[in-house]
Amino acid sequence: METVAYSVSIFGLGYVGSVMAACLAHKGNRVVGVDVNPTKVAMLSSGRSPILENRLPELIAEGHQACRMDATTDAIAAVRDSDISFVCVGTPSLRNGKLDLSHVEHACAEIGKGLARKAAHHLVVLRSTLLPGTTEGVAIPILEAASGKRAGEDFGVCYNPEFMREGNAVVDFFAPPYTVLGSRDSKDLAALRELYSWVPSKTFETSLSVAEMVKYVSNAYHALKVAFANEIGTLCKQLGVDSESVMEIFATDTKLNISGAYLMPGFAFGGSCLPKDLRALGYRAKELDLCLPVIEAILPSNREHVERALAAVLQMGKRKVGLLGLSFKAGTDDLRESPQVQLIKRLLGEGFELCIWDRDVSMGRLMGSNRQFIEEVIPHIGSLLRTQLEQVVNAAEVVIIGTTAIDKDTLVAVLRPEQFVIDLVNFKKLLRPEGLPFYQGICW
Ligand SMILES: NC(=O)c1ccc[n+]([C@@H]2O[C@H](COP(=O)([O-])OP(=O)(O)OC[C@H]3O[C@@H](n4cnc5c(N)ncnc54)[C@H](O)[C@@H]3O)[C@@H](O)[C@H]2O)c1
Repeated sequence: METVAYSVSIFGLGYVGSVMAACLAHKGNRVVGVDVNPTKVAMLSSGRSPILENRLPELIAEGHQACRMDATTDAIAAVRDSDISFVCVGTPSLRNGKLDLSHVEHACAEIGKGLARKAAHHLVVLRSTLLPGTTEGVAIPILEAASGKRAGEDFGVCYNPEFMREGNAVVDFFAPPYTVLGSRDSKDLAALRELYSWVPSKTFETSLSVAEMVKYVSNAYHALKVAFANEIGTLCKQLGVDSESVMEIFATDTKLNISGAYLMPGFAFGGSCLPKDLRALGYRAKELDLCLPVIEAILPSNREHVERALAAVLQMGKRKVGLLGLSFKAGTDDLRESPQVQLIKRLLGEGFELCIWDRDVSMGRLMGSNRQFIEEVIPHIGSLLRTQLEQVVNAAEVVIIGTTAIDKDTLVAVLRPEQFVIDLVNFKKLLRPEGLPFYQGICW
């Protein structure tokens, strides 16, 4: 596909900005790098790389020779001479861990001054890693104040996170895992779509805050994977188990292990395996005097999620609660370590009036398979079970959906608009009943 060449200014000539400058010049765009550090500016403008990174010296030399790449400390001139400005300045941690936005604020103020003196439409793209709400709440107000213009009318603003890995940055820039384009209004994305038209991976167009958060989620998850693998490896080594073979086999399961499975925010896990097996691993690690904080944190995190569900019900200020779903997952009447049962115990402790319906448990109870468990282990809960879903919903001010074993039509027929509904299982949007103003999840 024929690509349109743009004039691009890149603020911040560190690892992200230098790679972006060189790669966009390679793709035929005119690039001017901007930095407050005159040494970096002098290096780039003389065709040398300001950072050490594979393939970067060749690409920068190429851009320089083709007269497609320059650098300056003059932000106003850079905005004037470009169509798009990318903000790639650093966002380091302050001593207390808080994100230091001072470089982003300064760069936006400089770009804003440039916009004030420019008549033509301009696009500002934030590329630094920013917490959700920063583009909307920090960058846009500074750009507007410094320019005296309105975002969305006089200039566009987008957020486009960077997913490159240092050492592999050029390869990752040309083939990122995905491209995420965030905006208030998708019409602001037109130039970015063209600029990235050659990118082979999938592009997602979304809101500013989703785009900002995807970057943090990606990094947090990568870090979690490393820490998890290292803890598993540590345990394996102490147990005399070949951890490489374990993880090689583990990673070939793209159905449950390396996949989107279990990654949708919803309710706590439970059942007869996950909690028990985590406890066994944790206990064995303690016997070996190993400290495995990630693995040890999983069960407390899960318990905290049940507490969040309780807090959500308490917040409604109602007393009559109907729970749909009692077993840990639809299609089973297994109540062992069901987080729904944990939630019920907490609700009863807080004095709520409770009725419960569960298709599978009622059926299992009739067949006698879980009768003994209900009668002996949770008799107080057994007495709250009703056989008809309508009975439970009709009597409730707050309805908690704790099973996927109910269809949308059934819910639409029984739920009343004034009822508070807490959907723990996170029905897919298409499967949720509409027209219920108080329908919500606890983490979505
Ligand atoms: N390094 C990575 O692998 C990577 C990957 C993805 C995202 N990020 C994110 O991208 C951003 C940049 O990271 P980096 O590693 O390239 O940072 P860096 O510290 O290497 O470079 C930042 C550059 O910005 C310059 N700068 C500061 N204030 C400026 C201003 N007002 N105008 C112009 N230039 C200014 C600095 O002089 C420096 O050269 C950060 O938010 C980071 O979290 C980094």
